[in-house]
Amino acid sequence: MSNPAPETASNASTGPAYAIVDHTYDVVVVGAGGSGLRATMGAAEAGLKTACITKVFPTRSHTVAAQGGIAASLGNNTPDHWSWHMYDTVKGSDWLGDQDAIEYMVREAPQAVYELEHAGVPFSRNDNGTIYQRPFGGHMQNMGEGPPVQRTCAAADRTGHAMLHALYQQSLKYDADFFIEYFALDLIMESDSSGVPQCRGVIAMCLDDGTIHRFRAKAVVLATGGYGRCYYTATSAHTCTGDGGGMVLRAGLPLQDMEFVQFHPTGIYGAGVLITEGARGEGGYLTNSEGERFMERYAPSAKDLASRDVVSRSMALEMREGRGVGPEKDHIFLHLDHIDPKVLAERLPGITESGKIFAGVDLTRQPLPVTPTVHYNMGGIPCNYHGEVVTIGPDGDPETVVPGLFAVGEAACVSVHGANRLGSNSLIDLVVFGRATGHRLKELIEPGTSHDELPKDSADLALTRLDHFRHASGGSPTAQIRAEMQKTMQKHAAVFRDSKLLSEGVELLKQVNKRMEDIHVSDRSLIWNSDLVETLELDNLMAQANVTIASAENRKESRGAHAHEDYPDRDDANWMKHTVAWFDGWGGNGGAVKIDYRPVHEYTLTDDIAYIEPKKRVY
Ligand code: FUM
Repeated sequence: MSNPAPETASNASTGPAYAIVDHTYDVVVVGAGGSGLRATMGAAEAGLKTACITKVFPTRSHTVAAQGGIAASLGNNTPDHWSWHMYDTVKGSDWLGDQDAIEYMVREAPQAVYELEHAGVPFSRNDNGTIYQRPFGGHMQNMGEGPPVQRTCAAADRTGHAMLHALYQQSLKYDADFFIEYFALDLIMESDSSGVPQCRGVIAMCLDDGTIHRFRAKAVVLATGGYGRCYYTATSAHTCTGDGGGMVLRAGLPLQDMEFVQFHPTGIYGAGVLITEGARGEGGYLTNSEGERFMERYAPSAKDLASRDVVSRSMALEMREGRGVGPEKDHIFLHLDHIDPKVLAERLPGITESGKIFAGVDLTRQPLPVTPTVHYNMGGIPCNYHGEVVTIGPDGDPETVVPGLFAVGEAACVSVHGANRLGSNSLIDLVVFGRATGHRLKELIEPGTSHDELPKDSADLALTRLDHFRHASGGSPTAQIRAEMQKTMQKHAAVFRDSKLLSEGVELLKQVNKRMEDIHVSDRSLIWNSDLVETLELDNLMAQANVTIASAENRKESRGAHAHEDYPDRDDANWMKHTVAWFDGWGGNGGAVKIDYRPVHEYTLTDDIAYIEPKKRVY
């Protein structure tokens, strides 16, 4: 589809001289994964003039890689209730999740799934025609008591793929405009007299011809996904460079809970490719070099279906204690060879193929070598359950809304996942909060009303940065600095952390950040300049890597995915709070990170359920 024609053209004011193409919309969504498309669809359906800017074709967004499914308490395969889903999510989050937002998500989940079904998602079916649901880690019946519940609605093991296609079609049906292969550079922000910044639009570059586009909007929705690629091995696509988080940090706003990075237990050893938790949901199990089903020792009740942080840590301990598989004892076996090949073909065809391609393993006969692999960022852009970005205001109010700015999906931190996300709660987060954002936009914006004039310097931040990197002529190629950042994160902010590793990591990463001053971009053109785009992406990643490791070094407890060996216990008295962190290390400037806190919402949305009190997390 061709991109819509611009309205006007003008030049930048005092920044570098690039011609600018102007566009005016009610809503601009940045990112076309599950959450971006659901927000685009919602805004367009509400009659708002909506644009979606995306650096990849929508159906190539990273949601396409989501395999196992989407959680909702439909109760098709086992009894279920939204309050059980809520309990599991709160427990999974290690009590760092905001319970009002969690209640919102689990109660809206069934409706959001039925909407997907009606939008055309080809869910797998039970014999009676209802949506097939499989077990997933940490999802139980009876307020955590068990047995495991079948809550994860699946389209074989290609659920994200199916969702993206349906949501893209719906967005087109409601007449949203798509700007495909456009890379968002920076937000247009303005401060009002109260000192609270307000978002007025976004500047983007068309990758194809290098033209610069200024999108004036009443609301910008950041749906840019996670920043998994600041690690060396990740299930995340190479496009997962946290571009929204980078823009937010450059706008002087904080990110939240960045220390919580999820390792998925089953990335294919050596390749990092995801093997869905649905594999264990369908009966798969893990063994060590002695052939032992070791999860029975660590999680006697849930075993291989304990939550991800617990399984990943157990695997890491087995390897550390010499019971890993292979000459270097550095991986674990996942067994599916006992499962009926017909079930594998019907319910897990994608991973059967991945096993063959990436490990040369026939899953029907051989175990698959796997290892915990970076998969998901629980942290992100702080926002409320309407999708509105929040910050600590000049008066100290931690719920201060940033007008005109929204965030959804993995880019956001609502916070429903707290310190650890349950598998299949990501896809439901995408559609529930993408949809909620659409509702909020409809309430706030009157379609077709006029926009205030933009300040003359609205493109200067974006263009100065673009021009700086385009002409960067230091001695360090982008790929070299990126590899150094990734290896530092992989070693110093891993499944297990301790004070020494973290404080060394903070210092090392500051040095890596310093190398951004010496970066070298060899292609000066603006036509499909992947060298330049990868450098801009690295700049986004670098800021978030620094914020992540500084936040991890700062948190002196263990909670969810943050396993601190010098502080092995959860410390609710001192650390039941969200970290918020600002970055001031641009251009190699020391990597300075400022840290403050927001309170966890220790209350529910309605009186239908009481606050779920913290207790020890046992599976
Ligand atoms: O294992 C998986 O299929 C991944 C799902 C998720 O991260 O929610």
